[in-house]
Amino acid sequence: MTSRIRFLMCAPNHYDVDYVINPWMEGNIHKSSRERAVEQWHKLHETIKEYAIVDLVTPEKGWPDMVFTANAGLVLGNNVVLSRFLHKERQGEEPYFQKWFEENGYTVHLLPQDLPFEGAGDALLDREGRWLWAGYGFRSELDSHPYLAKWLDVEVLSLRLIDDRFYHLDTCFCPLSNGYLLYYPPAFDSYSNRLIEMRVAPEKRIVVLEPDAVNFACNAVNVDHIVIMNKISEKLKAQIAEVGFQVIETPLTEFLKAGGAAKCLTLRSTEPLREELHGNVTVESRVLCMKGHLLDAGLINRALDLIVDNGGSFQVLNFDLGEQRQSTSAAEVKVSAPSHEVMEEIISQLIELGAVDLPEDERDAQLEPVTIAGVAPDDFYVSTIYPTEVRINGKWVRVEKQRMDVPIAITETSYGPTAMCKMLRELVLGDQVVVDVQGLRTIRKPESREQRSAQEFSFMSSGVSSERRVELIVEQVAWELRKIRDSGGKVVVTAGPVVIHTGGGQHLAQLIREGYVQALLGGNAIAVHDMEQSLMGTSLGVDMKRGVAVRGGHRHHLKLINTVRRHGSIAKTVEAGVIKSGVMYECVKNNVPFILAGSIRDDGPLPDTQMDLIKAQTEYAQQLQGVEMVLMLSSMLHSIGVGNMTPAGVRMVCVDINPAVVTKLSDRGSIESIGVVTDVGLFLSLLVQQLDQLTSPYTTML
Ligand code: ARG
Repeated sequence: MTSRIRFLMCAPNHYDVDYVINPWMEGNIHKSSRERAVEQWHKLHETIKEYAIVDLVTPEKGWPDMVFTANAGLVLGNNVVLSRFLHKERQGEEPYFQKWFEENGYTVHLLPQDLPFEGAGDALLDREGRWLWAGYGFRSELDSHPYLAKWLDVEVLSLRLIDDRFYHLDTCFCPLSNGYLLYYPPAFDSYSNRLIEMRVAPEKRIVVLEPDAVNFACNAVNVDHIVIMNKISEKLKAQIAEVGFQVIETPLTEFLKAGGAAKCLTLRSTEPLREELHGNVTVESRVLCMKGHLLDAGLINRALDLIVDNGGSFQVLNFDLGEQRQSTSAAEVKVSAPSHEVMEEIISQLIELGAVDLPEDERDAQLEPVTIAGVAPDDFYVSTIYPTEVRINGKWVRVEKQRMDVPIAITETSYGPTAMCKMLRELVLGDQVVVDVQGLRTIRKPESREQRSAQEFSFMSSGVSSERRVELIVEQVAWELRKIRDSGGKVVVTAGPVVIHTGGGQHLAQLIREGYVQALLGGNAIAVHDMEQSLMGTSLGVDMKRGVAVRGGHRHHLKLINTVRRHGSIAKTVEAGVIKSGVMYECVKNNVPFILAGSIRDDGPLPDTQMDLIKAQTEYAQQLQGVEMVLMLSSMLHSIGVGNMTPAGVRMVCVDINPAVVTKLSDRGSIESIGVVTDVGLFLSLLVQQLDQLTSPYTTML
């Protein structure tokens, strides 16, 4: 014995694999040999005794995992935070460990009854005593970390475990003397890996590869320059030796069957206390309210998954189940995150999900001034499609011009502050911009189930449909289009040239002629190929009747562009009688406004194409004012542009042959958008057929 370092161990008198609470135990029930376990344990005990003092706690019958004293609690100085085991299979160990600590003069801190924390298995001190690494994700709850910081007066760095084979921090992470760290990075989420890399210099990080990791190479006992562990690869051994450690291997195969090895079998009870360092924890919590059809619309699951997937954790404080079919549920959820940064990410995603009302946050929104015109403060809150309110001087102010992906600017006026979604480029000096995610709430009126089912779109529940459902959807869209037209509503179409290539031009033209479309948004190409087709019968040089390329056809669209340029505009070309049919023809004849937004690849362009994209965005936005439905026809570019400008509540029907486009567009986290994966020409043809058959819902009602 060379130092005054002490460890606590527990002899394996009652050790066995009796149950399964981690993946290693699976298939190993009663498969470990007691005899060999005893022999391996004694060997480890003897080895450690050469370098430190070992205390023993009496093994108790019926508690086979008690050998893993790392899970007794977490010791620092004279304080110990007793474990609260997640599984009932181990909870019975708690009183025995508590007794031992008390008898040995420690001050024992007890966590709330239902807050799991598994001691030194999930909390490892930096060997220089600078901070505490604390794991969560499987056995210990993130919410236990603030207690550790408070009771032990130490800085706590939270690390999230994501691979269930490495369910305790000490199975994949081992701080060593002199600031070295032995660890298996894939066991952690990316945020945690970043945190580790920020705190431990690259030359101090010894990365363990999977074959050694699954042999519990990270589960090592470190005393000064000695590292005691189960057998590992020569390569890793050399790596560890190279930086000045002496590796002592001792077989622990019998304990691997229960998911533990050297480090798990010990608890270091003399951890260096650094008086000059103090408690600090970045873990944050916030209580959120969710209202709506939480269960049947699956919102609660999605919200909770999202919290965990982003590295947070949650506690459902209250769940008020809507008992009647039409009544809504309400939940109060406490969200915890390892840092403010992660919390912001979680909250903004929850807002996007559309289910969450941030409770009447007692705090005003945080504002920061614009210091460079056209540039927002770094941490600006990014808007969503949902109606939003901002708390300013204790009052909730409704955000105007709601749209997504822009900052919210606050301006003082004589009648009080106003809040508005502004494009970055619209920000002026003197604007105050909302930063962070506090003092914000979204206004949602949860629809009743009846309302929802009355809404013909509900059955589609923002799903992406394949051929099988296309006809059903077409019926619904037709009915909706008719209803909007007959009530004087507004439908906007975004369309790409594929509409023309697939033969959908004539059908879209019919929709315009019959008053179903109030504005057309697209690019240069849709107009070019539409007019090419009416003038020359080809679309991008392909004969639309025979489906074959026409000799010299690749020049057709350039000739068309030239013709329109000669006349000065699309309208003038139509008025001159040159263009006699088609989508653009119907727009001109029926006074349906069209905006053509240019792009770098445009031939020509047509005189009507707006090559100033800032102007084009503004003109799109103008046409979208008051829109009820957007039909997005095979144009990823223009449809996404439109999606960004449109607030929640607008129905969107996105048709594209590419499922990726459809998913991207229809994923607005609400029931109001629907994706249809199909050929757009076919879709339009079915749609006009349906409309022809349909009698107006209003005329039939009369
Ligand atoms: N069978 C035990 C459990 O699953 C093994 C504990 C290993 N301990 C550790 N600190 N990793 O709880």
